Amino acid sequence: MDTVYLNGQFIPRNEAVISPDDRGFLFGDSVYEVTRWYGGYFFDLPAHAKRLRRSLTETKISWQDAERIEEISEELIQRNGLGGDCAIVYLQITRGVAPRNHAFPDPPVSPTSYGFAKRHSINTLLCEQGTSLWLTTDPRWNRCDIKSTALLANVMAYQEAHDNGCAEVCFVRDGLVTEGAHSNIFFVKNDTLYTHPESEKILSGITRNNVVALAAENNIPLIEEAVAADMLAYTHESFFCNTTGEIVPVLKIGDQVIGEGRPGPVTQKMQVLFRNLIQSMDPRR
Ligand code: PDD
Repeated sequence: MDTVYLNGQFIPRNEAVISPDDRGFLFGDSVYEVTRWYGGYFFDLPAHAKRLRRSLTETKISWQDAERIEEISEELIQRNGLGGDCAIVYLQITRGVAPRNHAFPDPPVSPTSYGFAKRHSINTLLCEQGTSLWLTTDPRWNRCDIKSTALLANVMAYQEAHDNGCAEVCFVRDGLVTEGAHSNIFFVKNDTLYTHPESEKILSGITRNNVVALAAENNIPLIEEAVAADMLAYTHESFFCNTTGEIVPVLKIGDQVIGEGRPGPVTQKMQVLFRNLIQSMDPRR
C-alpha cells in the first residue's frame, strides 16, 4: 500500500480522506507542484520549492509547512521505497475546508495539504522519435504563472490533442504560441532558440529555465520571444519540455510539418546537454 502525505501525516493511501467541502474540490482553489526524482536525488528541487512557495503567496494561501517542502518530498520517496527508482512527487495545497462561499473562509481555516510519490520514467521512444502538437486557441485565464490545479482548459485541450493522436497541445493566444497544456514550447530558427518570455501567460517551467541556462552556458543563441503561429512554416525545429517528459522533439504542429519533420540537431544537442545536467545534479558523483 502506498504511503501518502495528508495534512502533516504520512498515512496509507486507503486511509486518506478529504472533505467534499474542500475548496480544492469545490473551486479548484488550490496550487500544486510536480518534482522529479532520479533514483537518488531530485532535479532542481530548490526551484520547484521556490515556485510552490510563490504560487502559495500569489494565491494568499498560508501553509504552515511551506518550509518543509523539500523534507516532505524526500520522505514520500523514502517511505514508498522509491529511493533507487525514477519517480515523481506530487504536492497539492488547497485553501482548506469551509461551507461553499466565494469569499475566503473567515476566520481562515488550515489549508489541506496532500502529496504522493509514484514511479515514473520518461517515454524514451517519444524523446527519440518526436511527436505532433495539437494547435488550438489558448482559452486560459491571465495568471498562467500560478501553478493552479484549476486545469479544466488544459484538460479539455489535452484530451482533444490525445483524441487526434498528438502528444501535447500548442496553445496560441493573440496569434502567438504560449505553451503546451503541461509543458513549455521551444522553436529553432536559423540555429537560434526561441521561447515565450516569462510572463503571466505561461508557467515559468523549471525544465524551461534550465534549458535557457544551458543554452547560455553553451553559447547557443536563445531569444525569449514568442513565435507567431503563422510563422511556424518558417521554423526549422521545435520541442516541448517539462518535468515528466524532459525534452520531446516536435515534428508537426496542427497541419504544419516543422522543418524536415524529424528531430533536428539543436533539439538533439539540448537533449544531450539536459541529460548531462540531470546527471551532474547527482550528489554521489
Ligand atoms: N506540468 N506549463 C504548464 C502549463 C505546466 O503544467 C507545466 C508542468 C509546464 C512545465 O513546467 P516544469 O518544467 O516545471 O515541469 C509548463 C506538470 C508536469 C504537470 O502538470 O504534470
